[in-house]
Amino acid sequence: MSHEGKLAIITGAGRNIGEAIAHRLAEEGASIAVVDLDQGRADKVVEDLIKKGVSAASFVCDVSKPEQILNVVDAIQHEFKRIDILVNNVAISDNKNILDIDLTTWQKTLDITLTAPFYFAKCVAHKMVDQGIPGNIVNVSSTTGYFGRGRAIAYAAAKGGVVNLTKAMAIQLAEYNIRVNSVVPNKIGSPVGKDEFDPSRPIINLRNRAGAPSDLANAVAFLVSDQSDFIVGTDLFVDGGCSVIMPGGSG
Ligand SMILES: NC(=O)c1ccc[n+]([C@@H]2O[C@H](COP(=O)([O-])OP(=O)(O)OC[C@H]3O[C@@H](n4cnc5c(N)ncnc54)[C@H](O)[C@@H]3O)[C@@H](O)[C@H]2O)c1
Repeated sequence: MSHEGKLAIITGAGRNIGEAIAHRLAEEGASIAVVDLDQGRADKVVEDLIKKGVSAASFVCDVSKPEQILNVVDAIQHEFKRIDILVNNVAISDNKNILDIDLTTWQKTLDITLTAPFYFAKCVAHKMVDQGIPGNIVNVSSTTGYFGRGRAIAYAAAKGGVVNLTKAMAIQLAEYNIRVNSVVPNKIGSPVGKDEFDPSRPIINLRNRAGAPSDLANAVAFLVSDQSDFIVGTDLFVDGGCSVIMPGGSG
């Protein structure tokens, strides 16, 4: 197991994609810090991990509050004595049109979806640098970071920011042996902010199936492993190939 003795933080690990990433990295031997706003969800994931013999703990944190991020990173460092992996997974969508969205919703979406990954990475990178620990950071982006979207405006802007944040972080942290990459999902499991799979979501990709949280978890596991040692600042699309299809289809 490649992550024996290592500690992985996964934000928004209370359900769906984050939960799957937590279980996948645990299978590789990592101890897991489950960070989520929802204590019940976080505790349930930790309970399931502990039942599998994994070392895990839950940390309640509203990532829209920088002081809470700072405190939670300190608490994780205190409990596990090291941080090797950060997966910046939390995001919310505004689901608004530019004509309808108000500034409060815009700001909240950017705070959680763009500023939080930046600040979480900053706090974690300081710990890695101070301890001389070679680290891995993966930002969960979205195909919406590359394309416009009718159903969200702030989310699209924030995810576009995550795409370039990843590249800048990769350059700035490279000298400290911290690799930064992103994964780029499209329609994985249930929609962002929802608990239920939505069978009415159209599936337009080259695999003719909806993506599963495990598809994303496998990609993250690869990016934080030594097998991807020469991959830095990359956006790994996990979208069934949907983003290579021209409007009008693939024929
Ligand atoms: N689900 C998809 O189809 C899809 C597609 C593209 C990209 N993504 C990306 O994948 C990631 C995960 O998506 P998901 O669908 O699993 O999300 P989700 O909404 O199902 O889960 C998000 C988790 O984050 C937690 N959370 C929400 N706000 C928080 C806050 N302020 N502080 C701390 N925790 C908070 C929630 O409690 C929840 O457990 C996101 O970055 C999303 O943009 C998802």
